[in-house]
Amino acid sequence: MTISLSENASKLPLLGVNIDHVATLRQARGVNYPSPLDAALLCEKAGADGITIHLREDRRHIQDFDVYEMADQLTTRMNLEMAATTEMLAIACKVKPFWVCLVPEKRAELTTEGGLDVAGQVSELTAYVHKLQAAGIKVSLFIDPEETQISAAIECGADAIELHTGAYAEAGLADKVERQDAELVRIKQAVATAQRLNHTLLINAGHGLTRDNVNAIAQIDGIYELNIGHALIADAIFVGLEQAVVMLKNAMHEGKSQ
Ligand code: PXP
Repeated sequence: MTISLSENASKLPLLGVNIDHVATLRQARGVNYPSPLDAALLCEKAGADGITIHLREDRRHIQDFDVYEMADQLTTRMNLEMAATTEMLAIACKVKPFWVCLVPEKRAELTTEGGLDVAGQVSELTAYVHKLQAAGIKVSLFIDPEETQISAAIECGADAIELHTGAYAEAGLADKVERQDAELVRIKQAVATAQRLNHTLLINAGHGLTRDNVNAIAQIDGIYELNIGHALIADAIFVGLEQAVVMLKNAMHEGKSQ
């Protein structure tokens, strides 16, 4: 499938839906439902612009067969999150998702805790990124909103960065308004820095975003795509998956000219 990267020329950020937690529910019982594939197809029907899945080393939610099934059946783009390991490189080169997003991974973490330390491993990551790109895959690096990490990502030849919005989200959940404002400023500055350093780099953002906190991030000019999972699946418990996608998109776009 080919989709132009300039499709959001209207400047509205795209929505990538992370459906890992549908697999989390399935794995909790070791049964074959609910189906992450069916969930992904519903999200696409409801307006998701892409589907994100994280194939973790410990396979705690998404399984290998999910990746292959989705590669066959998604009608938008797959964004495969993974650690930069030899095992994952082999899988990605076989599956050929539209995007790979490289993330740090610790076995004991509840979710991806921090951004990838790109600055600390530029030569290794440059080689890794090039191998993925040689297989026709676009590569995004999940990083904290810091200039050193942004320039290192550019040095590695990444097609995109995904700015970690976890600190912004957590400050909001803890009602630390000033802290959240400061985190928002940090993300805005990171977007401006990325644009200044390389005008072709795509800038995504994600982690911890909800209907309540997404608007301020979605309003930042220059953000290409937001990747959102946990809060959307939580909303879906009450309103259903399709409606949850519609409500999230509305929350993203509120106040922005279409
Ligand atoms: N982006 C990245 C790189 C992630 O690792 C995750 C979590 O898997 C997300 C976005 C989505 O985060 P959340 O589930 O908190 O919306």
